[in-house]
Amino acid sequence: MEALREKTLKAWHLLFLTFGLTACQQLPPAGGSVVATASPGHAFAQASCSGCHAIERYGASPNPDAPTFAAVANQAGLTAQTLTFWLGDAHNYPREMEFTLGSREVDDLVAYMLTLRDPNYRPPP
Ligand code: HEC
Repeated sequence: MEALREKTLKAWHLLFLTFGLTACQQLPPAGGSVVATASPGHAFAQASCSGCHAIERYGASPNPDAPTFAAVANQAGLTAQTLTFWLGDAHNYPREMEFTLGSREVDDLVAYMLTLRDPNYRPPP
């Protein structure tokens, strides 16, 4: 009985060791911050958009004319495609937003902004 348990434990230990090693080998090189890796779009929005827009799920925009990102993301009919198209063209839009975004930035932003979609979203009063 005791011997059997020992054997089982050893087997598990080996299994974990194998998985552990595999997992370690797949980790990206150290140095990158976890948050930045998880959401480059959030970091970019923080740096480039948060001066005017509320970029988080809750809260009001610093610039009252700028819709919150949650409001943008929860617009009816908005999809990754329409948002991508819009952001790629943003330099044509309101004067306040005269900037050109690279397609990488647009993709990152879209990925982040779509995380703000919420079926229970209610626009702020
Ligand atoms: C200097 C202020 C300012 C900055 C910085 C800014 N915006 Fe805006 N943005 C505005 C204003 C003001 C509007 C509303 C314009 C209007 O409705 O005519 C707007 C509108 C938008 C809209 C359209 C919302 C809609 O449904 O019509 C999106 C999307 C948007 N901004 C995304 C961004 C992103 C992404 C960034 C950062 C890369 C950014 N904005 C940076 C001021 C800003």
